[in-house]
Amino acid sequence: MKVCIVGSGAREHALAVTVARSADVVVTPGNPGIDGLARSGHSLSTTPAPPEEIEADLFVVGPEAPLVDGLADRLRTKGKLVFGPGADGARLEGSKRYMKEIATAASVPTARWASFGAWELPQAREFLQRLHGQYVVKTDGIAAGKGVLVTTDLAEAQADVEAKLSGTSFGDAGRRVVIEEALTGHEISLFALCDGKRIVPLSPAQDYKRIGTGDTGPNTGGMGAYSPVPAVGTALVGTIVDRIVEPTLAALRRDGVDYRGVLYAGLMIGSEGPRLIEFNVRFGDPETQVVLPRLETDLVDLLAAAAGGDLSAVAEPRVSPDAGVCVVAAAPGYPAAPEAGGLITGVPEAGTLEDVIVFHAGTRVDDEGNLRAAGGRVICVSAFGAGLETARRLAYRAMDRIHFDGMQVRSDIAAQPLVALGS
Ligand code: AMP
Ligand code: GLY
Repeated sequence: MKVCIVGSGAREHALAVTVARSADVVVTPGNPGIDGLARSGHSLSTTPAPPEEIEADLFVVGPEAPLVDGLADRLRTKGKLVFGPGADGARLEGSKRYMKEIATAASVPTARWASFGAWELPQAREFLQRLHGQYVVKTDGIAAGKGVLVTTDLAEAQADVEAKLSGTSFGDAGRRVVIEEALTGHEISLFALCDGKRIVPLSPAQDYKRIGTGDTGPNTGGMGAYSPVPAVGTALVGTIVDRIVEPTLAALRRDGVDYRGVLYAGLMIGSEGPRLIEFNVRFGDPETQVVLPRLETDLVDLLAAAAGGDLSAVAEPRVSPDAGVCVVAAAPGYPAAPEAGGLITGVPEAGTLEDVIVFHAGTRVDDEGNLRAAGGRVICVSAFGAGLETARRLAYRAMDRIHFDGMQVRSDIAAQPLVALGS
């Protein structure tokens, strides 16, 4: 079996390493950390060739942009087996308004919301005033995780709506906004594999969105993650699947969407139970780097069954009892203006530690063969062990070996894991 993975980040690196336990893997375009022979003896390689030109038995599309752009449809038209929704299902992430419409049609618990176009500034202002004390303003379109403002300052929210609708802050992606009430509670991520009709949930994870230790500074793509989440056990996962994920998949089906891929539910767990913040149509990054390595069931079987439209024969996935913690090193200036080019040292030394995997997020090899920073998030380290504290200590020990100038690393990943709800 040969599997083609599309993408170049740490998420695709984690997918590749996990898939390579049981199949040959080619990643396009991949990254400098992915090559050679996996421990299983399967090959792990990269190619700059476009996915449409690659021969493989299964295609797995990592990032949202090619999904929104219809890559899965183009591959399916050629008769390929693809894990990842078509452009119709990918609208869930491509348009926050569509996501809220589907959630509303499915009676999924989510924040009260309304959507406004560029010509509806007065109505948008009026809706903001009806929200009490906490305001959330989102671009309708994709804005690389930067299109969301959560604030308690009405004037700031008003100014943000105006900048978005006028096109000055996010261009066309902002000319429609979704405004919603703020949810309170604890945020978690749950990935559900979908075959169009059925769902197989994976282990929940928690992501650290803000750039700074102690949840300070602006939102990022994610600065670290851990899994499992002690407070989110089987019963709560069941509630999330019953109330949120399954009704959404059914609503999509009623809309004519045959959704085969992962539904990533971003959830707020509050006093009223789990509520949906948003759906993404791909695996989360960095959550994937702690969820997939802990999977003991063959990932290729799961992805192929979902892509083939029949998860019915798949048993509940087995998961290692070990905990996983992932710590991200981001470039100086990230997220506003990441600076590329820093010389990265210590990656091989970190990778030799037992139960540690180093994933490349944004790196390149220069003409002299040196590894350099080439992205917002540069390197992540995942560590596994008996309990979150063990995994956490090991992840930081590994990260201590890695250096590049100006690297930003949060020091509090998994320091206070969510052990009990209400805590
Ligand atoms: P999104 O791109 O919709 O996931 O939003 C990015 C981040 O903003 C989320 O991960 C949350 O931390 C926060 N956020 C978004 N919507 C809400 C909401 N309604 N209430 C509270 N926080 C939110
Ligand atoms: N970790 C958040 C995301 O992947 O969107």
